[in-house]
Amino acid sequence: MPLPKIKISDTLKSLERLFQAKAPPLIGMDISTSAVKMVELTDTGNKMYRIERYAIEPLPRDSVIEGNINNLDAVGEAVKRCHSRLGSSIKNVALALPNAAVITKKILVPAGLTEEEIEVQVEAEANQYIPFSLDEVNLDFQVVGPAGEDAEDVEVLIAASRKEKVEDRVAATEVAGLKAAVVDVDLLAAQAAYELIESQFPDHAKDQNVAIVDVGATFTTINVLRNGQSIYLREQPFGGAQLTQEIQDKFGLSREEAEVAKRAGGLPDNYETEVLNPFLETFGLEVARALQFFFTSTQYNQVNHIVLTGGCAALPGVDGVVAQRTQVNTIIANPFANMALSSKVRPKNLQQDAPSLMVACGLAMRRFDS
Ligand SMILES: Nc1ncnc2c1ncn2[C@@H]1O[C@H](COP(=O)(O)OP(=O)(O)OP(=O)(O)O)[C@@H](O)[C@H]1O
Ligand SMILES: [Mg+2]
Repeated sequence: MPLPKIKISDTLKSLERLFQAKAPPLIGMDISTSAVKMVELTDTGNKMYRIERYAIEPLPRDSVIEGNINNLDAVGEAVKRCHSRLGSSIKNVALALPNAAVITKKILVPAGLTEEEIEVQVEAEANQYIPFSLDEVNLDFQVVGPAGEDAEDVEVLIAASRKEKVEDRVAATEVAGLKAAVVDVDLLAAQAAYELIESQFPDHAKDQNVAIVDVGATFTTINVLRNGQSIYLREQPFGGAQLTQEIQDKFGLSREEAEVAKRAGGLPDNYETEVLNPFLETFGLEVARALQFFFTSTQYNQVNHIVLTGGCAALPGVDGVVAQRTQVNTIIANPFANMALSSKVRPKNLQQDAPSLMVACGLAMRRFDS
C-alpha cells in the first residue's frame, strides 16, 4: 500500500517537537515500569550543573508495561504525587518515549541544504522505511553534523514515533496539571546523561567501546557507544522484579514490603547467601551474555568499559560481580558525580538513586540545549 504524502512542516506544527532547540525552564520526567522519576537541574555556568531536587514515585503494578502506559489514571495520579513531592514551581516537563516506540534512522544529505530542502529529503526517506501510515506518525529530524572529516555530506537523524504513544504520555502529564514541553527518546536522554560520565574515563574513552548496561525492573538494555554514538542496542527480559519476587516468596512479604526491604535492608541473614548472591550471579551471566551477542553480531570483539545503570546497579557488590564475570572494567553510573547539590538533596539518598535517574537527568539537561 503506498504511503500517503505528508507535509512535514504541518506534522511538526501539530505535535511536540522530538528535539526542541530552545527549551523553557523544565523538569526531566521519566515514566518507567517501576516509577515516575523527576529531576530538576540548574546551570551554574561553564557547563556545570546543580541538582536542585529530585523525586521518585512508585507506580502500581502493571500501570506501565514494556514502556507503554496501560493505566492512564494511575500514571496521571503518580505524576501528580511525584510533582508535589518534588516541590518545584516549574510546570514544564521534558519526557521521553520508550525506545521501541520510536524508529530512528540516519540519512546523509549534501552539506549546505536549507531546512526546507532537508525536509524534502526526510519526507522521501520516511516514505520508504516507516512501516505504518504516516498519518499515525510524528516525524522529526535533527542535523547531527558532518558525515566525516572534510565530508561533503551531513548526517541527519530522523525520528518517527506512533502518535498514540506521544498522546498517552502527554495526557498523563496534563492530568497532573503539567505541560509536556519536550518529547525525547529514552535512549537519547540516557546518552545525554552519559556524557557527564564519560569524562571519568582516560581520554574520554576515545575510540573505545563503552557498554551502558541498564538493568531496570523488568528489562535489561545494552547500548554500546563508540565516540558518543550508539553502535549496538539490544534488550533482554531480566530485571529487579525477579529479585523482588524471590524476596516475597522466600520471606512471605508483599511486593511493597519486599521493595522496601531490598533498599533498606533488614532481611534475615540467609537473604544474602540464598537470594541476593544467586541473583547477582545471574546478573553477571546476563551481562556476559549480552556482550557475547554484541561480539557475534558486530565487527568488534572487545568492550573497554561497562557502565551499570538502572535501579539494580544500586545492589551492593554488583559492579564486582560483573567485572569478574566479564573481565571488563565496570563502574556504577552516577551522572551527578560532578554536580553541586542543593541543600534539599541528601547525598546518601542520591548516591543510591543516581543509577536509576539517567533518563530523568538527561531529560532535565534539555533545559540547557541550544
Ligand atoms: N537501592 C536499590 N537497591 C536495590 N534495588 C533497587 C534499588 N533501587 C531500585 N531498585 C530496583 O531496581 C528496579 C527499578 O529500576 P529502574 O527504576 O531502573 O527500573 P525501570 O526503569 O522502572 O524499569 P524498566 O527499565 O524495566 O522499564 C526495581 O526492581 C527496584 O526494586
Ligand atoms: Mg528503565
